[in-house]
Amino acid sequence: MENRTKKKAVPTEGLDRVDGRLKVTGRAKYSAEYNTKGLVYGVLAGSTITSGTIKVIDTKAAENAPGVLAVYTYLSAPKIPAYLDASGQPQGKGALKIFYDEKIYFNGQPVALVVADSFERAQFASTLVKVTYEKADFQTNLQANLSNAAAPRNAKDYVRGQEDAYKNAPVKIEQEYIVPTDVHNPMELHAIIASWDGDDKLTVWDKTQGVMSTQRSIAQAFKLQPANVHVISPFVGGAFGAALRTWPHEIAAVMAAKALKKPVKLVLSRQDMFTSVGYRPYTWQKIGLGATADGKLLGITHEASGQTSVYEDFTEGAVNISQLMYACPNVNTRYKLVSLNVNTPTPMRGPGEATGAIALECGMDELADALNIDPIELRLRNHADTDPQSGKPYSSKFLKDAYQLGADAIGWKNRSMKPGSVIENGWLVGYGMGAGMFGAHRSSATVVARLLADGTLDIETAVTDIGPGTGTAMTTIASDVMGIPSKQVNFKLGDSAMPPSPTQGGSSVTATVGSAVNDACVQLKAKLKELAGTAEGGTSGYAQILQQHNLPQIEVTVTSKGGPEQGQYAMYSWSVHFMKVLVNPATGVTRVDKAVSVADCGTVISAKTARSQIIGGTIMGTGMGLMEEAVIDHRYGRLVNNNFADYHVPIQADIPQLEALFVNKPDPYINPMGAKGMGEIATIGVAAALANAIFNATGKRVRDLPITPDKLI
Ligand code: MOS
Repeated sequence: MENRTKKKAVPTEGLDRVDGRLKVTGRAKYSAEYNTKGLVYGVLAGSTITSGTIKVIDTKAAENAPGVLAVYTYLSAPKIPAYLDASGQPQGKGALKIFYDEKIYFNGQPVALVVADSFERAQFASTLVKVTYEKADFQTNLQANLSNAAAPRNAKDYVRGQEDAYKNAPVKIEQEYIVPTDVHNPMELHAIIASWDGDDKLTVWDKTQGVMSTQRSIAQAFKLQPANVHVISPFVGGAFGAALRTWPHEIAAVMAAKALKKPVKLVLSRQDMFTSVGYRPYTWQKIGLGATADGKLLGITHEASGQTSVYEDFTEGAVNISQLMYACPNVNTRYKLVSLNVNTPTPMRGPGEATGAIALECGMDELADALNIDPIELRLRNHADTDPQSGKPYSSKFLKDAYQLGADAIGWKNRSMKPGSVIENGWLVGYGMGAGMFGAHRSSATVVARLLADGTLDIETAVTDIGPGTGTAMTTIASDVMGIPSKQVNFKLGDSAMPPSPTQGGSSVTATVGSAVNDACVQLKAKLKELAGTAEGGTSGYAQILQQHNLPQIEVTVTSKGGPEQGQYAMYSWSVHFMKVLVNPATGVTRVDKAVSVADCGTVISAKTARSQIIGGTIMGTGMGLMEEAVIDHRYGRLVNNNFADYHVPIQADIPQLEALFVNKPDPYINPMGAKGMGEIATIGVAAALANAIFNATGKRVRDLPITPDKLI
């Protein structure tokens, strides 16, 4: 393994996005844009009740509408082959079986798929499907159902040392927090085009974070050989976890395409996106923190209850951050689920930790206030030098550097220890911080690297790029290792026919696929050296070697994964977010005046895209802190703000110039580049930093997100 360890403290350069031009000129083709010959269009109709059964479903008017080819319901849809294996919806166990029976589990559950010769005709006809329901009682309110919370199957409470030790500490805080349902809402709507070739082979152009996982799940649903399912997804317009799994609408499109023997396109509406592709689950949390008078933690107790659907358990590590973040002898956590009449949640950026950091990092701020200790100082006094859960050494941890970099950049020295005490130009001024962490993972990836006679290098692997700039980072690694200009590298991705790569998720792609690209280039160089006795000379040198040996190309296929070091060290990425806010005392409006996010994510491979990723995470965390909340009217169990007019996300005017800083010290163990992940830590801790800054500005603790103006006046 070659080690790339030369790096600046703050990277200022880096490649432009290799696909940037394609994206801004509209030439990048997304899943909905593959307009194959004979394409027909599917539109879903959703349930208007929240629980119960379909009594009568009348599709005649829809079937007779212009251009309509078929209307599928639980009565008329061909059964999905995998559904025949087990009877009934798998209560608490599995994905919703679409068009399976008459039962309704949540508002918006698909009850019909209308397919027509144009999108508009399908859309119109979908409004003509008439359903008579028998309503049943339902529950959509987590807080009203907290007493029904139950531990998920196989889950055990975590105990280190003594349980509830915080209660006996000289100084303690105990508080409850609410994180509401947040919806990923990527810019690109979820879309699939399914096209069969005979009875046992198909191609799908699908919005997915993993072409291989989509291939596996479609093959399994339709009982096909995985190799017979070709999944193509070269561009993904954001996903944040919403495209980690195959959802019922994808299964429905494949089913309809098979039945009609025509390619079917199905694009979810923005409204559908709120009930079809998961969300960050509404979660209640309670944290107890106890410390000595000089701020040494004696006990942490962290409980959380998150919502899930009635047909499937979704679990996440909402309390895990409290087991891991600080050195503390006594820690216990409890995690429970509340089954409600909602669709199943799914991972959303920083899944688990982003929620848990609200309790832990706001709790630490409350404790700092109770102790009258600076919040950074409190964290330094409880810094974990080894992993408190496993006792293992860290592969790398430069969180202290991150605190320092961020404190300097935000101007932490200007923070008043007395909340609500600083007013400038009529606005209350406050500073806050919150830290984050997420596992730094490396799995297995295979790439093929092909050096052509003209000296260009083609690299292929199946991974998708949901937006962080994977192609740019991989091109950077290849060009660095080979010593050739980045323009000579063609990195191709997003196709299940390419060598296997993992799903893009869990902040692991650069560490995983980057290692395979690195190793393939190292092997390619070794081959060239063997041929020529030297591997010098970059582009023209390599081309010359091939020409001298009369070779049109040389190619290596390399599978790369971690070794024993993966088990010997605790591997995490770390972040710390700083916020300076202005709060208007009359209106309660919060303005982010300045935000600085610092990442300890090992070596920064691609400076520009890394900066964009951190900034994107800060913005997402700002939405979580100040604006985002999917609201259900619990009288009807129906969302009231499933659109961008009513579900607020930050826009340009909400966001000042943001600063992204990197410790940029290589991790010596995780992989040859020394790179850890950064996608999740970009968001984890941001909303807590905002809540803490707002407390510093106003003296008011708001413990239920989002912190909207009404909560501050
Ligand atoms: Mo991420 S929540 O693994 O897309």
